[in-house]
Amino acid sequence: MDIRTVGIVGAGTMGNGIAHVFARSGYSVILCDIEQRFLERALETIAKNLEREVAKNKISANDKANALGRIQTVTDRSKLAACGFVVEAATEKFELKAEIFRDLDRLARPDVILASNTSSISITKLAAVTKRPDKIIGMHFFNPVPVMKLVEVIRGLATSGETFTAVRELALKLEKTPVEVNDAPGFVSNRVLMPLLNEAMYAVMEGVATPEAVDEVFKLGMAHPMGPLTLADFIGLDVCLDIMRVLQTGLGDPKYRPCPLLIKMVDAGWLGRKSGHGFYKY
Ligand code: 3HC
Repeated sequence: MDIRTVGIVGAGTMGNGIAHVFARSGYSVILCDIEQRFLERALETIAKNLEREVAKNKISANDKANALGRIQTVTDRSKLAACGFVVEAATEKFELKAEIFRDLDRLARPDVILASNTSSISITKLAAVTKRPDKIIGMHFFNPVPVMKLVEVIRGLATSGETFTAVRELALKLEKTPVEVNDAPGFVSNRVLMPLLNEAMYAVMEGVATPEAVDEVFKLGMAHPMGPLTLADFIGLDVCLDIMRVLQTGLGDPKYRPCPLLIKMVDAGWLGRKSGHGFYKY
């Protein structure tokens, strides 16, 4: 499969990271979001993160300029019709993603694979809203995308072997390590990670320990680079809550009920690092 131009829907934390790695690996990128200001903010973030790599001598200043030059930003989704591959990285809401997939299915050439960076939503259900379910797949990156090596490659029920192989190869071209996973709520990563973060929140809510103490336990006792509450703030508390709800609904076991403290914080608009306030202040 000869892919030169990659479309990315959603220029938030994950979308801009995905644009960064594709552009750095030589692909032309069309980054799409609903408002120009989101795209401008994404370009600033990508430039800043590419600069970190220049400062570390991982890439040259020229590589940075070329990567930035390969990213085109658009608010008109129909411009994605020119792409040979599209990754959706919109907010973690099924209805929104379904609407995007219906639209991409209409816009994109019939041979084009449409991937979702969803953290937990069913690939099989997203595929079912399109006329190309064999070409729908999960390509789940991890934050910060330029740093984390993993890509979970998720097969929906109808995903073809050719689609899986193409996306696996694409991940390798981005110098990532693809891991094959079948479609199930939260896949592997968030099925295991989110209950850990949620339980850490219960420990804080019940007064077992402070956020600082919980995080220290995991950093020093289990060698996690970030403690669970710092990580929850980093991922975004709204994203954590959305994923817990997918686990709760999809698996039906009460052990996946979101921590009431998490719900309360999201209701207050305390979304973690991105809003300046979560378990910590930023
Ligand atoms: N872009 C590019 N490079 C970045 C970066 C970014 N956004 N953020 C950090 N880096 C680089 C730094 O330049 C540095 O490079 P070096 O190794 O060459 O020196 C390296 O990453 C480490 O960064 P720092 O020294 O600044 O800071 P830390 O050592 O504290 O590492 C971290 C930062 C990599 C974020 C580390 O704390 C970490 O690994 N945390 C855990 C992250 C994690 O678990 N992510 C997964 C979240 S779950 C998810 O994404 C799934 C979703 O579905 C919810």
